[in-house]
Amino acid sequence: MQNLRKLLYSALTCTFLLNGNVVVNSTEKEVKVYSGRHYNTDRAVYKKFAEDTGIKVRLIEAAGISLIERLKREGKNSQADLILLVDAARITNAAKAGLLQRIESKSLENDVPIGLKDKNKEWYALTRRVRVMVVNEKKLAKAGIDINDIKDYTDLAKPEFKGLVCLRNRKSPYNQSLVANQIVNKGELETKEWLNGMISNVSQPFFPGDIAIIRAVSKKKCGVGIVNHYYVARMLAGVNGRRDALYAKKTTVITPNPAHVNISAGGVSKYATNKAEAIKLLEYLASPSGSKGLAAPTFEHPLKEVNQNPIVKGFGEFTPDKVTVDDLGINNSFAIKLMKDAGWN
Ligand SMILES: [Fe+2]
Repeated sequence: MQNLRKLLYSALTCTFLLNGNVVVNSTEKEVKVYSGRHYNTDRAVYKKFAEDTGIKVRLIEAAGISLIERLKREGKNSQADLILLVDAARITNAAKAGLLQRIESKSLENDVPIGLKDKNKEWYALTRRVRVMVVNEKKLAKAGIDINDIKDYTDLAKPEFKGLVCLRNRKSPYNQSLVANQIVNKGELETKEWLNGMISNVSQPFFPGDIAIIRAVSKKKCGVGIVNHYYVARMLAGVNGRRDALYAKKTTVITPNPAHVNISAGGVSKYATNKAEAIKLLEYLASPSGSKGLAAPTFEHPLKEVNQNPIVKGFGEFTPDKVTVDDLGINNSFAIKLMKDAGWN
């Protein structure tokens, strides 16, 4: 009986020798995912997808920029079927670099709202994140600033914020997209004025990441910083440990209204060998339950709803501004130039 089972198994799934060539006659479908989303909780969504469809997900993780570099280097030899990236600048740059391919999918067109998908159908958003301000009320009060008077990113350019602003470095695509957003929203002149004012209010070297900014604000090294909302949420929830939870508790999040909303997104690799499976997984991730599955544990927002976690709701309601992800991509290089000109290193 055991032998019979073994024989049957090998007949179904194993490698055969045919005319001297090795032919893989596998019934197992799979999709290889290159992901710049470094959240362990994504794996639960992949697992559910595999259970529902029988398509195995093989995950290869890499940081956003190096992932794009890697894909460029690998070219036609790349194993990637589906590419997931965080930030509008990264996904639009991947498309510009010819790393993605156009796909046709009614369900993606239905599930991903306008402004959060590519006109050429090469990428689709999966989750949303809001760039917020994180403040230390006591530190600002000492400088005579009432946090209720802070409404928008542009407020940080006011002279009373001298020496109180902390920012992540220019390399951060999150900040590049924020500046691109302001260019579209307010025009070149106003953006330049905002940048010049805000950068002259920065008191210390630019930070390597959002979490470091939240800690510095908590320790009163800064009065205000700009970060993605989910970093504060995760710290408050204790995901990063007790100490970070205590740091985050000493800060307050201010959500501009309307707010700059960024995305994580996915597209099918130009040289995907499992294209149909990649489209299926992308559809799954962008579906209401898939997007929720990705966003709920990371404190991001799904595509169409707001994260219902009380911590995230505590940051206040937000209305996304009218800027599309496409606009952010188009203005990325110009944003970097304006940042450089203003001394944003
Ligand atoms: Fe992030």
